[in-house]
Amino acid sequence: MGAIITGWGKCRPPLSLTNADLEQLVETDDTWIRERTGIESRGMCHLETTDMAEVAARHAMAAAGIGPDDLDLIVVASVTPEITCPSNACVLQERLGATGTAAFDLNAACSGFVYGLATVSSMVAAGVARRALLVGVEKLHFVMDYRDRNTCVLFGDGAGAVIVEPGPDGAGVLAVDLGADGEIGSTMVFETLGTRGELSRDRDPAQNRLHFEGQAVFKIAVKGMTESVQRALGDAGLSTDDVDVVVPHQANERIIRAATSRLGVDESKVMVNIAQHGNTSAASIPMALTDALDQGRIAPGDTVVFTAFGGGVTWGSIVMNWGDRVERIATSDAEMAPPTGDVFDLLADNRAFFAPLHDD
Ligand SMILES: CC(C)(COP(=O)(O)OP(=O)(O)OC[C@H]1O[C@@H](n2cnc3c(N)ncnc32)[C@H](O)[C@@H]1OP(=O)(O)O)[C@@H](O)C(=O)NCCC(=O)NCCS
Repeated sequence: MGAIITGWGKCRPPLSLTNADLEQLVETDDTWIRERTGIESRGMCHLETTDMAEVAARHAMAAAGIGPDDLDLIVVASVTPEITCPSNACVLQERLGATGTAAFDLNAACSGFVYGLATVSSMVAAGVARRALLVGVEKLHFVMDYRDRNTCVLFGDGAGAVIVEPGPDGAGVLAVDLGADGEIGSTMVFETLGTRGELSRDRDPAQNRLHFEGQAVFKIAVKGMTESVQRALGDAGLSTDDVDVVVPHQANERIIRAATSRLGVDESKVMVNIAQHGNTSAASIPMALTDALDQGRIAPGDTVVFTAFGGGVTWGSIVMNWGDRVERIATSDAEMAPPTGDVFDLLADNRAFFAPLHDD
């Protein structure tokens, strides 16, 4: 018995941070950002991660034709959790009214959705769960320094969700490749939300922001995703010629193009939606999957490949036979409550918080 995806949905917060907006915050320009990353705009969350997760989850449940009472497992993948205990999955469960389901969080940074799908699909295939909700959600603007052009242009907030259920023979997850290398973990770090160090009343701006080594991460990403997909396809007994759609983690359009061209997968088979979302870490693949389905890019029986890399360093790929249904059973009108201010209002505290790290 395989585990298939029967529902999908996303939440793109209503506030946007465009390249033109960033030109007002840091010394950058629209052409540099588009040419180096493919990004034009990013969602910015004025509420909490659970608010985004709930919207994505309600869309996914509607697409699967189920309600909260039908779930028996909720997993939330995030590197920017709203709270440590109770888990974000428990907070979401309460919000959805899905009392009684198993619920836990998972952190594999930008590989979180692939690790999460490997986990929930294994639990479904083993009969431990029958209907699982998996959410990837991030409020990354919280750990960005909007005075540091090297990092802040890349990331956005958002959520994506899927429902995973048992499927017919031949459909569902065919192969999984997961891996990590802690020895190169220092290439992508933010220390906030951890217990490392002394108790302190104040947050230290230097520890509260993301640090990464751009060119090192670029190479790790291309090599990591390429080799991981090759291993997963090999385990499934397939080749790149058998692949119909690749839904990769959206970190940088150039990383995606470099990895998929090394694999020999035609550009037309690769889902890229980074222009409107930026890098949303664990949320990026389920958001891209939702857009791919909405655009009719996945057909019944397609071989779909998910691949990601992220902090840790982690990587992972999943090869699946999609199954039959590519249309939603029903739709939901869930959306976030509107913001009261604009994106500059949202980022005003951030700019003040990080000011001590900058001369200007
Ligand atoms: C960050 C990244 C976009 C930079 O692209 P790049 O082509 O490698 O650019 P470089 O690092 O060579 O920098 C080129 C120049 O642009 C400058 N630059 C950096 N950010 C800029 C910005 N937002 N606007 C304008 N110029 C910028 C740099 O300061 C550098 O200037 P210098 O040559 O005078 O020092 C790219 O390396 C990348 O995407 N890496 C992966 C990052 C990632 O995915 N992180 C996610 C995991 S946490």
